[in-house]
Order: sequence, then structure tokens, then C-alpha cells
Amino acid sequence: MNKITLIKPDDFHLHLRDGAALASVVGDSARQFARAVIMPNLSPPVVSVAQAMAYRQRILDCLPESSGFKPLMTLYLTDNANRDEVDRVVDNDNVYAFKYYPAGATTNAEAGVTHIEKVFPLLEYMAEKDVPLLVHGEVADTGVDVFDREKVFIENVFSSLVEKISSLRVVFEHITTIDAVQFVEAASERISATITPHHLAFNRNAIFRDGINPHHYCLPILKREEHRQALLEAATSGSPKFFLGTDSAPHATGAKENACGCAGIYNAHAAIEIYASVFDKMNQLGSLEKFASKNGAGFYRLPLNTRKITLRKEAWRIPDKLAFAGSELAPFMAGETCRWKLVHEQ
Ligand code: DOR
Ligand code: ZN
Repeated sequence: MNKITLIKPDDFHLHLRDGAALASVVGDSARQFARAVIMPNLSPPVVSVAQAMAYRQRILDCLPESSGFKPLMTLYLTDNANRDEVDRVVDNDNVYAFKYYPAGATTNAEAGVTHIEKVFPLLEYMAEKDVPLLVHGEVADTGVDVFDREKVFIENVFSSLVEKISSLRVVFEHITTIDAVQFVEAASERISATITPHHLAFNRNAIFRDGINPHHYCLPILKREEHRQALLEAATSGSPKFFLGTDSAPHATGAKENACGCAGIYNAHAAIEIYASVFDKMNQLGSLEKFASKNGAGFYRLPLNTRKITLRKEAWRIPDKLAFAGSELAPFMAGETCRWKLVHEQ
């Protein structure tokens, strides 16, 4: 197969930032994706529907109307979140979910939830109102090995959460382990997961190839090859529980190439092309449309997009750097060859 046409995909996990950074990156996502679930970890975080709606407008202001891009907004869950805000989400057509960051687990997660018990009553209310929870599934405990934080989160937090509030709809975001794949597969249809291009394309050796590679550092961190294989199986399985979420998270080169480099990989410049290359390598291009354009819409109960995109098998070189907020960033797979290319939209 040298050409593939898909229903225009959606990105169910995206960091767009704000201000000049937002203006630099949002066009990349809008070119490939019809809709995207927008992460609320700005500084300060997006905690109210009013703030989410203002942020949504700033996103739309950066795009021409013809783009048709629809941001699906989310709120940042804190210990202080209340039922009124859940009601406002229910009444609003542009805000879709709450995002749960364990406090301190990742970039701008300082305001996250300190103990899951603190938000249990609110999560019960969200379940009652059918508002989904998007989960950063890692414990923030620095005593736990960084490669085990997702597994320990499943064992110590997630299993009991899912069991105790069994009607809550949950997206286990950017899963990275065989443990997460098996957990999601065994759980009810209310539990689903997103998978990133970088966790499908690379294992943890990428962080240490010929020296230390800060541009491959993200959270959850890349894992062993056996985990990557489990993610590949899940993504290409056709199961409606697994869908596309890039977790594209831009940081300027100087913030990554640093004594204490930030976590986050920018992949929105070529996300669908990298997913296509990965699926092709697995001989599974036939299941790409489900993963990229159908499964997530099903979980979020959104209509399928009417636009289409076409990709062609054509090798092209990913640029070494891209302009970013008056500075620059190193995109995912900078300088490497991508084997599929987005050629047009219908
Ligand atoms: O690597 C990451 N970067 N993981 C996250 O969860 C947040 C993100 C960011 O916002 O930079
Ligand atoms: Zn993220």
C-alpha cells in the first residue's frame, strides 16, 4: 500500500501552551487533526469553565476560520475542585473532562491532587453526571523507581479507584507499560487509554543512545522494549479501548538541553505521519483509521469527522529544529527519516 486515505483523525491528548508558544505550534495540530483534547496544565492551571472558555478562544484566535479545528477543553483537577464546576462542565458544549495529575508527578503538576481520597466525593459526583476523568497514571513518590511509577500507580491507586467508582468513565492517558495494557483490556468498557507516537516508536534506549538525549525525555518515561511491543499490539488491535493521543508537549531547546531538562516531547509536526510509519512497520495500516479517527470519538461520544486526509509512502527528512516562541525547539525524530507523508486533505 503506497497511499492511504483516512477520516481526519483527532488527538485526544495535546499540550498547546499559551501566548507565543501556542501561536507557534497550534497550526501543526490543526493541519493533521480535526479535534484535540487540550491539556489544562498551564501556569496557573485551567481550573474553571470560564478559564477554559477564554483559553479556547485564544486557541481559535491563532487559526484561520477555514481550519475547522475544534479544541475539546478540559479542567485541571485540584483538591479544591467543587460540584458547581462539574455542573458547569455538564452545561457546557466545549468542556469535556477533568484531568487528574497526582501533585508533583510532571510538568506543572504542583497544583495537582495531593491524595486521591480528597477528591473521591467529587469523582463520585462526576460519575453520576457522566463527566470523564483523564488520568496521568503515575505515582509522584520519588522513592519509587521512575520506570515503575505507572505500575505502582495501577497497584496502589488506580485499581481501587476504578473498582470503587465503577461507573466513572476514565481515560488512562499515555500508557507506557504492558501492565497498563492488560489493566485496560481487563477493565469495563468505561476504561480506555491513549497511546503516544513516541512510546510506540522508541524504547528507553533512545534516552541513552550515544550519550544522554534530553529530547527523548518525557513523563511517563520511555520503557523497555517488551512494554513497547505490548503498546504496539494494543494500538493495532482494533480494540475500541485504545486511541490516539500524542501528548505533544513543546519545550524550547534551551529548556531541554539543560542541567535539569524539562519532560516533554514535541511530536505535533509529524504525529500522524509517525503513527502511519509505525503501523506500516507492523503491517497494520488497515487498523490505523480505527485508532486515529474512530475509537476516541466513540469513547467521547463525538460524531466522526467528515473531512479526510491522505498520506503517501514517501521518505522525507524531519527538520533539525522549528521556530518556537521567538526561540526554537527540537522536534521528535529531528533529522531522521519519516516514511509516510501527509499529502492532502479533502
Ligand atoms: O513529558 C511530559 N510533559 N509529561 C507530562 O505529563 C506533561 C508534559 C508537559 O506539559 O510538558
Ligand atoms: Zn500530557
